[in-house]
Amino acid sequence: MTEQDFIPQYYDSSILTEGSYTWKTPSNIALVKYWGKKDPQIPENTSISFTLNNCHTITSMEFIKRRSESDHISDQGETLKQVQRDEMNFEIYFEGEKKEAFKPKIASFFERIKRYAPYLNDYNIVINSKNSFPHSSGIASSASGMSALALCIMSLEKEFNVSMTDDYFYKKASFLARLGSGSACRSIKGEIVVWGKHELIAGSSDLYGVEFADEVHESFKNYQDTILLVDTGEKQVSSTVGHGLMHGHPFAKERFKQAEENISKIKTVLKSGDLKTFVNLVESEALTLHSMMMTSNPYFILMKPNTLKIINKIWEYRATTNSNLCFTLDAGANVHLLFPVIEKENVSKFVEKELAQYCQNNQYICDIVGNGATLL
Ligand code: PMV
Repeated sequence: MTEQDFIPQYYDSSILTEGSYTWKTPSNIALVKYWGKKDPQIPENTSISFTLNNCHTITSMEFIKRRSESDHISDQGETLKQVQRDEMNFEIYFEGEKKEAFKPKIASFFERIKRYAPYLNDYNIVINSKNSFPHSSGIASSASGMSALALCIMSLEKEFNVSMTDDYFYKKASFLARLGSGSACRSIKGEIVVWGKHELIAGSSDLYGVEFADEVHESFKNYQDTILLVDTGEKQVSSTVGHGLMHGHPFAKERFKQAEENISKIKTVLKSGDLKTFVNLVESEALTLHSMMMTSNPYFILMKPNTLKIINKIWEYRATTNSNLCFTLDAGANVHLLFPVIEKENVSKFVEKELAQYCQNNQYICDIVGNGATLL
């Protein structure tokens, strides 16, 4: 599919004066990382992620039809009339409070998607959003937040096109979510999601995420992710800036090539259930992501001393047990512990005894792979 396929051919917003939809969408954690993009939000390499279950966002979008153009005429005349017609009119509430600070990001998202969702301009919109995880936990909320909003928009679009297929619905939701935040396109549907065109992944695209449809070994069923909250503060360098620093990065070309190779490798591992290779690949990806940050110019470090303490503890634990526990990192200091469900009891004890002390206020979140968004 191309971008053109996501432009609605026809819609009649007069059939719907008001309504509301609520979607619950998960966060995701990348195994092979996306770091580096081209305009408009096209990834430099393919990435693959586990969809989470407990870390999620619930977003509702209420909409009410704007009055007709003639209603906009005011004593300020034509100028105001034009502004009112062209600008999206929306409010955003986060965890019950009106959030003016979130408006610019959402406004630029609406601006980016207006070709693909022109009907939005016919409504006044109120967005209400809340996360299952603490707001300042350092867990990226843009993935679940943008995917929830994209799905609410698609629920509205479906009102104008009742014969829309589920396949189109979810692909376009992922396409729209991507334009809000790249990794958000992997938070729509499926336990394992691939984003970016790759020769070995059938149907894969740079424009949206697709469910990994190949065989997956039993060992990966109910895979666990315990998120150790090492640093719950604001990130010093945003992902947007970090992605930008991959332009002209001395190792960028090799990195993008390595990621494509790692997608091929992980496809084989997901089928065979070779957990030792999985551990090696996932940890290498996490450290490579952070190496790219450290070798950018300007350079930066998002890991904290406790991130490294935890990593060393994991390596010690693996050396003294036959465990397949491994870590991965997002663009931050928190550590995701990935492990098969059969190790749940042992790893829980290890986390409580050895790792919780390195977390802010001993906080961590136990999560598990889930299968995507739900309409509430
Ligand atoms: O979706 P963005 O633009 O916030 O980028 C996130 C990139 C990483 O989380 C660091 C890696 C990934 O693939 O999720």
